[in-house]
Amino acid sequence: MPLIPITPLHTPRLTVRGVTAADLSQLLPINADDRVTHHLPYASWQSMADAEAWLARIEGLQAAGGTQQWVLTLCETEAVIGAAVIFKHDEASARAELGYLMSPACWGQGLMREAVTALLDHAFGFNAGIERTDGLRRMEAEVNPLNAPSNALLQGLGFTLEGTLRQRWTAKGRTYDTHLWGLLRDEWLDRAQTPINVP
Ligand SMILES: CC(C)(COP(=O)(O)OP(=O)(O)OC[C@H]1O[C@@H](n2cnc3c(N)ncnc32)[C@H](O)[C@@H]1OP(=O)(O)O)[C@@H](O)C(=O)NCCC(=O)NCCS
Repeated sequence: MPLIPITPLHTPRLTVRGVTAADLSQLLPINADDRVTHHLPYASWQSMADAEAWLARIEGLQAAGGTQQWVLTLCETEAVIGAAVIFKHDEASARAELGYLMSPACWGQGLMREAVTALLDHAFGFNAGIERTDGLRRMEAEVNPLNAPSNALLQGLGFTLEGTLRQRWTAKGRTYDTHLWGLLRDEWLDRAQTPINVP
């Protein structure tokens, strides 16, 4: 089955919604920040041309199915503070991969935990008290073992560290291992009763 279509998701502090071209000017400084891209496989964006090229590629992937690009906006100001992607969707196995990034100004406040919680609810088919049968069965994430916040985020959400893939990536002149994290729909359902801890 295809991914459950994008619809705006509301959390206590965020709206998580589909990306638009109007978001690029705010995504540029985030993706231009070396602190954000340090553990990501692409170079920091230099200009709007990089942002536009990224969106064109994303739109192509979304049109082909199997990829959803989301942005995180603050409820109070509607400012775009981050992005998340669900990609590599394997329909037959009802499995996909998750990625995310956020402006350093917003790190350490539990905001990505809040956003990913909403995304997992949506992707697994639990939303607004309604349980769907066409959600994913498994979500995966690949993380550099040195990326402490990202590994902590997934562990805190209940993902299981299923292994370390040796020399998995070569990017920006470095070869590195990745942790493979996995979370099953049934495990998420078991945890879903736990309320989001808003600091
Ligand atoms: C990964 C990232 C999105 C985390 O965002 P965040 O909003 O700061 O995360 P949260 O505040 O929700 O915290 C998530 C967890 O990380 C922990 N954490 C935060 N900073 C940490 C640090 N420097 N070292 C160790 N743990 C840290 C928090 O305590 C929290 O753990 P908990 O859920 O058990 O309480 C952010 O650091 C980021 O954008 N990094 C750059 C992009 C990136 O690396 N993306 C992931 C690629 S795999």
